[in-house]
Order: sequence, then structure tokens, then C-alpha cells
Amino acid sequence: MKAIAIQAFGSPEGLAVIDLPDPSPGSGQVLIATEAIGVGGVDTVIRRGALASYGFREGHILGGEIAGTVLTVGQCVDASLIGRRVWAFAGRGGGYAEQAVVPAETLVPLPADISAADAVTLGSSGAVAHFGLGHAHFAPGEAVLVRGAAGGIGVMTVQLAARRGASAVAVTTSSAERGERLRALGATHVVDRAGEGPDVVAGYDVIIDVVAGPHMPSYFARLNPNGRMVVVGVVGGYPPADFGAQLLAAFQKSLSFATFSADTVPQADRRVVIAELFGAAIRGELRSIVHERLPLEQAALAHRKMDAGEVFGRIVLVPSGAG
Ligand SMILES: NC(=O)c1ccc[n+]([C@@H]2O[C@H](COP(=O)([O-])OP(=O)(O)OC[C@H]3O[C@@H](n4cnc5c(N)ncnc54)[C@H](OP(=O)(O)O)[C@@H]3O)[C@@H](O)[C@H]2O)c1
Repeated sequence: MKAIAIQAFGSPEGLAVIDLPDPSPGSGQVLIATEAIGVGGVDTVIRRGALASYGFREGHILGGEIAGTVLTVGQCVDASLIGRRVWAFAGRGGGYAEQAVVPAETLVPLPADISAADAVTLGSSGAVAHFGLGHAHFAPGEAVLVRGAAGGIGVMTVQLAARRGASAVAVTTSSAERGERLRALGATHVVDRAGEGPDVVAGYDVIIDVVAGPHMPSYFARLNPNGRMVVVGVVGGYPPADFGAQLLAAFQKSLSFATFSADTVPQADRRVVIAELFGAAIRGELRSIVHERLPLEQAALAHRKMDAGEVFGRIVLVPSGAG
């Protein structure tokens, strides 16, 4: 089978199409013929080598989120799954391939009305948006800011916050054109990456932050009393080391700062929420934002587009012969 491996950390040119023997599932796993593979912001971070200290090595096959058909199952897995179309989470990698082994406990049945491309756009990002807002104790009537709203996680957070009754859904983004697209998804206020602009909101109850980076602490001052900031991504890099001191400087506002990773959510809870997100999309309550479908072999082009900041929503890779 064809797969995409990181042959050398760094630029997208380090990604190579390779031939591998078809994998076989171990106990508790299933083998999936992929129809769609989501390209996430984290994939570019791993490709650059920035997560080598987390055990990602050259030779790694990227890709966490896939959808396709179950080909075979390993021991201790219900054989009736064979032939079913599913969404699945491969975890640390292995998804950029024509076939991928995934834990059976991650599978969510794919409703007939959801395409594989839509599924890999809604599933993981939507779960982070849902549980991230929950982690922030978001309540209807509160003002929300989504930092880094134009990516996969952001477009889902904007939609969920709007649908769940936020009094304001502000977004940071890099262009007016993106701002208009985010308004169409439910954003009420559009500000620049620094959080400034004519449309700025006086204070936020909740900030869902996909960016972090050096400017993160400047957002503490924009939180209302009892405001909560939850960092769900670090596309802008790590914050300055003294950010805790800057948080303490606003002590009298009783602010809360947290990180959130979907890894801490039990698989069963994630499956329920992802199935609900698919249902919401079928009912027209949630839009999947597929930036572009590209052949699996063009994964390097997908990464160049990500690096150039061109992508709104998600790029989806499609193996030849699929969908
Ligand atoms: N919490 C979890 O469970 C979880 C799960 C999966 C992934 N992640 C993390 O989420 C992140 C990827 O999310 P994603 O795919 O939604 O993001 P993404 O598409 O890579 O980026 C989101 C947006 O952030 C803006 N941006 C990019 N670089 C920026 C910078 N230096 N400063 C300010 N804004 C910047 C861009 O929009 P504009 O150009 O419009 O500003 C971009 O569209 C990664 O850090 C990954 O590790 C977290």
C-alpha cells in the first residue's frame, strides 16, 4: 500500500510517498481502507520535527483522523464490523496511508448522509471544540473569543459557541475575507491576530485559544472578572515563561487559565459527541469546512498550503480509488 512518511524533518519536501506491506490489526484493533484523511495543524508541527522530544522520529507516518471501510479486525473485536463505513482516530499517526490500523474503541459509524471528507473535518476538531468549551465552563449568554478561528478547531468552536447561545462570538483572523467567512459561520465580531480592531468586544468570559504563542498573556487583560482562558493548541508556539506571573498580576479578577487535550476525554464520551456532531451536520446545524480535497500522494502540497497560511478549515487527503 501507499503511505506518506516523513523522510526528513523540516520542509514539506521531506514528505515522501512510500510502498509498505499491508498492515494487519493486532488485538483490539481494526484495519481500515481509508477514503479520507484529515490534515491537521499538528501534522505540520510533527513534520517540522518540533515534537521529536515526544517520540516522533523521521520515518513517521503522519495522520490521526481517517474515515473509510473496515477491512479486517484483530482479536477481541466484533467481526460484524467488517465492511462498515466508519470514522476513526489513529492517534499518534499512521493515517496518511491507503490502509490504517486503528483502535476499535475509537470507531464511530459513518451515517450514509455524511461523506468521508466531511467526517474527518467534523470529528476530531468538533470534539475538541465541544469539550474545550465544556472545559471552559461556557454558558449561554457569555461572550466568547476564539483565537486562531480559521483552522479546523476554530471553525467548529465558532459554530458551537454561536449555536449554544453565546452573547458574542469574536474571532481573531488574519484577513477581512476570512473574517467574512467566519461571520457566515456565526462569528459576531472580527478582530486581527493581536485581538485589535474596530469590532473589538469590551471583555470576554471565555477565550478558546488555538494559538498560544508570545502574545497569549496580553489576552488576560481582555477577560472579564471570573473569565476563563483554555488553550487547546499552540500553532503560534509556546507562551513566554513568565505568563503565570502575568496571570497572577490580574489576581483580583479571579481569572482561570487551563489547557485542554481531548486525550483526557474517555473514548466512549468522544464517540457519543462525534456521533452527535455528525447528526447536527446532517440536520444542517453544523457545517463541515473542507478547504480542498487532494490526492494522498500530494500530501506535501497540502503541507505547503498549510505552511503558507492558505487553508480555511481543513484539507482532506483522498487515496486513489477512494471516494
Ligand atoms: N486540544 C486537543 O485535544 C487538540 C487536538 C488536536 C490538535 N490540537 C492542536 O491544535 C492545533 C491545530 O489546530 P488547527 O488545525 O485548528 O489549527 P491551524 O489550522 O493550524 O491554525 C489555526 C489558525 O490559527 C491562525 N494562526 C496560525 N499561525 C498563527 C500565529 N503564529 N499567530 C496567530 N494566529 C495564527 C491561522 O488563522 P489566521 O491566518 O486567520 O489568523 C490558522 O488558520 C495544534 O497546536 C495541535 O497540536 C489540539
